[in-house]
Amino acid sequence: MLDLFADEHPWQEPLGPGAAILRRFAVARAETLLADIASVAAVSPFRQMVTPGGYTMSVAMTNCGALGWTTDLHGYLYSPNDPQTNQHWPAMPDSFRQLADHAAREAGYPDFRPDACLINRYGVGSKLSLHQDKDEQELRAPIVSVSLGLPAIFQFGGLSRSDPLHRVLLEHGDVVVWGGVSRLFYHGVQPLKEGFHPATGRFRLNLTFRQVCKSE
Ligand code: SIN
Ligand code: FE2
Repeated sequence: MLDLFADEHPWQEPLGPGAAILRRFAVARAETLLADIASVAAVSPFRQMVTPGGYTMSVAMTNCGALGWTTDLHGYLYSPNDPQTNQHWPAMPDSFRQLADHAAREAGYPDFRPDACLINRYGVGSKLSLHQDKDEQELRAPIVSVSLGLPAIFQFGGLSRSDPLHRVLLEHGDVVVWGGVSRLFYHGVQPLKEGFHPATGRFRLNLTFRQVCKSE
């Protein structure tokens, strides 16, 4: 597919202490990433998980890598198996691993070794309420979050839920990296607006890379 944005050069915007937006960083590889997302989802399909509070999430999710993030009525959990297929989550594609490594390095985290990649699919109205990513053991590693397709407003706050929020529009190919002081900062995604993107149609896709297990 002809990529209309491929010749825009990436640039970096600071977002907070230890946090940056790498604008358009993933654009040139978006087509490969999307094909690899489709291969993962063919094995472990997107599904709307239910939180411990009994709320069905509006974002559809799947995972790849050694561990995958899941939620059900019993709690939040990283598991080597997809509870829907009772098989291991699909392996993390090389394209994902390379992008995560490259983006983390660019943002100042040279030793990122993600063992989990959560794949989020947002349709119109899908949102992610303000939360912290705190189910990982290795809090020295950053989070690397890749946006593809339709734009969404990302909220990025502080260590306390009531801290003021930065609101930034994340567009196709943007990568957000947060770690260090901001590793546990609250963040969320506002409801997706209706639209059509040439690469993803009526959806936004997001890859969130995490290092769950402690490194030596
Ligand atoms: C997340 O917090 O897991 C996803 C963030 C996003 O979709 O941009
Ligand atoms: Fe998150």
